[in-house]
Amino acid sequence: MQNFGDFFLNKKVIVTGGAGFIGSHICEELVKLKANVICLDNFSAGKLVNVSAFINEPNFSVLDKDVCDNDEAMHEAFKDVDIVFNNAASKKNICLTNPQRDLEVNSGGTLNLLELSMKYGVKKFIHASTGSVYGEPKIFPTTESHPFEPVSYYGVSKLGGERYVDVFHKLYGLDTTILRYFHVYGPRQESNEFGGVVSIFLRNITEGRNPIVFGHGNQVRSFTWVKDLVNVNLLAAINPVSNGKAYNAASGIRVSINDLAENLLQLLDKNNKLKVEHGEPLIGDIMEFEVSNDLVIQDLGVEFNKDFWGNLKIAVADTAAFLNQG
Ligand SMILES: NC(=O)c1ccc[n+]([C@@H]2O[C@H](COP(=O)([O-])OP(=O)(O)OC[C@H]3O[C@@H](n4cnc5c(N)ncnc54)[C@H](O)[C@@H]3O)[C@@H](O)[C@H]2O)c1
Repeated sequence: MQNFGDFFLNKKVIVTGGAGFIGSHICEELVKLKANVICLDNFSAGKLVNVSAFINEPNFSVLDKDVCDNDEAMHEAFKDVDIVFNNAASKKNICLTNPQRDLEVNSGGTLNLLELSMKYGVKKFIHASTGSVYGEPKIFPTTESHPFEPVSYYGVSKLGGERYVDVFHKLYGLDTTILRYFHVYGPRQESNEFGGVVSIFLRNITEGRNPIVFGHGNQVRSFTWVKDLVNVNLLAAINPVSNGKAYNAASGIRVSINDLAENLLQLLDKNNKLKVEHGEPLIGDIMEFEVSNDLVIQDLGVEFNKDFWGNLKIAVADTAAFLNQG
């Protein structure tokens, strides 16, 4: 992790989705850096256990609210806030069953947070977006100027959120940064059907079930270590060059789903008992990712951890510990 000096000391920050996978890692680092951290989460997917390691720290508090709320508690929370890290989202799999809710949270909720941020003079708004806004990429490597052609409800609703962020920057001069995440992996990732592919495979294999690959499995993912994303968020917060910009926050690692499944079977020493199974392709699944991270490296000096298979061992240990907890 970069040395942030005392930049975050006593800063009031809100991390929406702070009890989720990525948000909890952002909270954890900000608590260590002695910011005053409010974890705003409606606990639709987030869990207190994700923040349990620092929940009793005096500079950390939990606010059980929805990003669409606009009541007294929300107004009170936004007073004197320096930085908002917006990581709350209705996720991909929910979108397939309830696209209206995605629109409400990912677009409408973002608009609500932006309005509160303007009203209370928030100094920086860092918004978690997704590579899904590009849809099936047509230009490789995919840079930030790739056309937006999302092919999922999730991608559309996240694109709506991004566009609102951009409008608040252009119309009102709000200091904003959009970070497009890609296939984040690491400890605390949900391993139920709403989680990421790494943690879902890990759970299946650990529990003695075959990992199920949707479609042929040659689809490539650009996996990014969660701690790198924390670093990108904090670097965006401290560096004025990020004002008004959108960045691909991706490591550049490319791994096929088949390779991932095969390697996990080997890593867990289950390759003689279990095998990769193939299921129906997922609607809106994207086949190829080759993401350019040149801009985020150039502007913010981010160093991505490229040791995917080494990091997987950490994720494996974490999942085993989690499953042992019940
Ligand atoms: N994990 C990835 O690979 C990935 C990839 C691209 C983008 N993202 C983006 O990163 C952000 C964090 O994702 P994550 O993987 O940590 O997901 P997560 O589901 O673990 O975390 C999201 C959190 O948001 C909370 N939340 C959902 N709706 C809410 C609402 N209406 N009000 C308040 N809180 C709400 C959930 O309870 C949860 O704690 C999201 O914006 C997501 O779109 C993630």
